[in-house]
Amino acid sequence: MGVNVGRKLKDAGKQWVIEDAKKKGVYWPTERMKEKAYFSDEKIYAEASKDTRGFWAKHARESIGWFGEWDADKVVELEPPYFNWFVGNKTNLSYNCIDRHLEENRNKAALIWVPEPVDEAKQVLTYMDLYREVNKCANVLKGLGVKKGSPVTIWMPMIPETAIVALACQRIGAWHSIVYTAFAPHAVRERMEDAESKILITVDGFYRRGKRIELKRRIDEAQVLEKVGAENCVVVRRLNSEVEMKEGRDFYYDELMNGVEAYCDPEIITSDDYGFLLYTSGTTGKPKGVMHSCGAYSVGVALTMKLVFDLHPDDLFWSTADIGWITGHSYALYGPLLVGATSLWYEGAPDYPDAARWWELIEKYGVTIFYTAPTAIRALRAAGDKWVEGRDFSSLRLLASVGEPIDPDTWKWFFEKIGERRCALIDTYWQTETGGIILSSLPGIGPFVPGVAGPALPGVHCDILDETGEAVKPGESGYLVVKTPFAPSMLRGMYKKPEKYVEEYWSEYGTEIYFAGDGGIKTGMEIGGQPLIKITGRIDDVMEVAGHRIGTAEIEDAVSDLDEVVEVAVVGKPDAIKGEVPALFVVLKSGVEVPKAQMDREIVKAVREKVGPVATPEVAYYVADVPKTESGKIIRRFLKGLVRDEALGDMTTAQNPECLKELAEITKYRGPQKIQGYNA
Ligand code: PRX
Repeated sequence: MGVNVGRKLKDAGKQWVIEDAKKKGVYWPTERMKEKAYFSDEKIYAEASKDTRGFWAKHARESIGWFGEWDADKVVELEPPYFNWFVGNKTNLSYNCIDRHLEENRNKAALIWVPEPVDEAKQVLTYMDLYREVNKCANVLKGLGVKKGSPVTIWMPMIPETAIVALACQRIGAWHSIVYTAFAPHAVRERMEDAESKILITVDGFYRRGKRIELKRRIDEAQVLEKVGAENCVVVRRLNSEVEMKEGRDFYYDELMNGVEAYCDPEIITSDDYGFLLYTSGTTGKPKGVMHSCGAYSVGVALTMKLVFDLHPDDLFWSTADIGWITGHSYALYGPLLVGATSLWYEGAPDYPDAARWWELIEKYGVTIFYTAPTAIRALRAAGDKWVEGRDFSSLRLLASVGEPIDPDTWKWFFEKIGERRCALIDTYWQTETGGIILSSLPGIGPFVPGVAGPALPGVHCDILDETGEAVKPGESGYLVVKTPFAPSMLRGMYKKPEKYVEEYWSEYGTEIYFAGDGGIKTGMEIGGQPLIKITGRIDDVMEVAGHRIGTAEIEDAVSDLDEVVEVAVVGKPDAIKGEVPALFVVLKSGVEVPKAQMDREIVKAVREKVGPVATPEVAYYVADVPKTESGKIIRRFLKGLVRDEALGDMTTAQNPECLKELAEITKYRGPQKIQGYNA
C-alpha cells in the first residue's frame, strides 16, 4: 500500500503550529513557521488598511510582470458598482504564468499530472514544455478563427491539455468558459448559447472512478454542436475511443498541433479587457457568466499564493478542485504558475481504486501544501482511519480548506490525522465572483480556530452588516459584505446582463457595498485589529452540494418541465458527508397516478440531463401544496426549516396555511417550534 519516500523529510516532526494553552482550541504558528513565512507580522493588517491602494500597488508590481505602467493616480478607479484596477496598464496571463519563469526555471516541473488508472504513468510538464505546447495551441486556435475577445467553451477534465488550452486562450486574449464535466451536455449548450461561443474544445473521454466518461459522444447524442451552430469542435484523444467526427467541423487536437509553429506573440491585454468567463449558479434558473479581468485578477491570485498559502519555490502544491470551478482556475492552474511553482493535478476520484488514493499521492509525490474541500475530507474520514494510519505525511506543512464552512469535528480530524497536529490548517473563504481568496487566517500569523475562517485578508475590507446596513457588534451575526475599494481579483461584470449584476450583488446595500450572499458571525476574536469571522453559509437560494455550487432554481426549472409536475420547490437538506443535498417538494397534477418510484426516477433523470449528475436530488416529497405568500411567492424559509429541523418562523402570513400540517408530517419535522398558522 502506498509508496514511501524512504525517509522522513527534513522538517518531519518539527512543530509548525502550537495550541494556545490559555484558550484551548486556538492554534498559532510556531517560531519556525513564522521564520519560514513570507508574512509573519500582524502589522500588515494595519498597514494595508491605512493605505489600501498603496498596498495593492506595491504587490501588483511585485507579483506579476507588466508591459507598461498604470496611471499614477489610478491604482483603482471606482465607478460603483463598477471598478477598474491598475488603469492604463497592460499584461498577459500566459506570459505571466510561463514566459516570465523561463530564464530561471525552464526545466522545473510546472505540472505533475497523475492519471486515474493506477498502471498508467504520470506526466510531467516543465515550464519549457508548457511554453512550447501553449504557443502551438495558441496558433491552432488562431487558425480556427479564434481572436481576442472570442468566447471559447471548454468541456474537459483534469488532464494536461486542459491547462494548455486555457493558457493558449489567455495567450491570444480569447475568453475561456470552462464547464464542469459532471454537468450535463445541456449545461454546455446553455453556456455556449449565452456566450455565443462558436467553438467547443472537449475530449473523447476520461476516467472517473474506473469508468470511461465519454464526453464527445454525449455532446453528439444531445446534438449540442448542431443546436448552438458551432463552427468547430476540437477533440483531445485521452481514451482513444471511437467518436464521430464531422468533416470540416470536428478536428483532433493532436492532428491540429502537428507541425504548428511553436511561438505566438502574447496578446496585449489592458486593464479594461476581460480575462475569462465562468458560469456560476445564482438565484435564477440560468447560470450567470461571471466576467473576470486579466491583470487585476492575476495580482489577487498571485498575492494569495504567497500571503495565504505561503508558497515557496520548493513547494509542491496540490489543489484537488476541478478546473470546472473557480478553485480549479485560480489555485490548480493560474495561481501556482503565476508564482513559478509546481502544481499537482490528479484526473480521478479520491476513492479510486480505494480510499487511500489521495493519501498515497501526498506521500508518493511529497505534497507540501494540500488544498481541498470539507466534503471530501468527511467522505474519506467516513471510509475509515485505516486508510491514513501509518502513512508518511512528513512532507506536508500546510493544509487548507474551501467551499463551505469546515465544521470543528472535520477540522480536528484533518488537523490530527493528516496534518499530524504539526501543519497549519487554514479555512479560506471566497467565491467565483471574488476570483481569489478574500478571507482567511494567514499561516505565519494565525490564529487557526476550528470552525472560524478568520479575518479579511490585508487590503480587503470585509464586514458583517445587519439588515439596516449597520456593522454588527462582536458576537452578532449578519451578512458578509466587501467595502470599497473591493479586491483586485473581484468580478468585473456579468456577461450581457448588467441588470442582473446590479441586482445580485449591489442592490442589498447600494452600489458601494458588495453583498456576498453569505451569512457570517463576527466572533469576539481579533488579529491585527481585524475581527475573526465565522461564515455560516448562503442566505439565498444557492446550495453547496459536496462543495459544488448549485442553484435551487436550476433544479426547479428542470423538474417543472415534466408533464406530471405543477410546481416544485427545492431546498438544501443537511447531509453528513456532502454538507447539503437537494430536497424537492413536488406538487403533481391532479389525477396523475404514476407510482412514486417511477416518478422519482423521472425526476432524477430530468435533473441529471438538464443540470448534471452533481445536482441529483436526494429526496422528493410529493405534497398537495407548498406554502406561499399573498403574492404567490413560495415561502422557502419554511421548507428549509422543515428539512433542517429548525425553527420555522411565523407562518400566519401564508395564504394557504392548510398545507403546513401535511408538510410537517411528511418530512417528519421534529424541530423546536410548533407551526404558527395552523396550530398556534
Ligand atoms: O457560500 C460560500 C461557500 O461557497 C460559495 C461560493 O461558491 P463558488 O462560487 O462555487 O466558489 C467556491 C470556491 C471558492 C460562497 O458564497 N464558501 C466558499 N468557501 C467557504 C464557503 N463557505 C464557508 N467557508 C468557506 N471557507
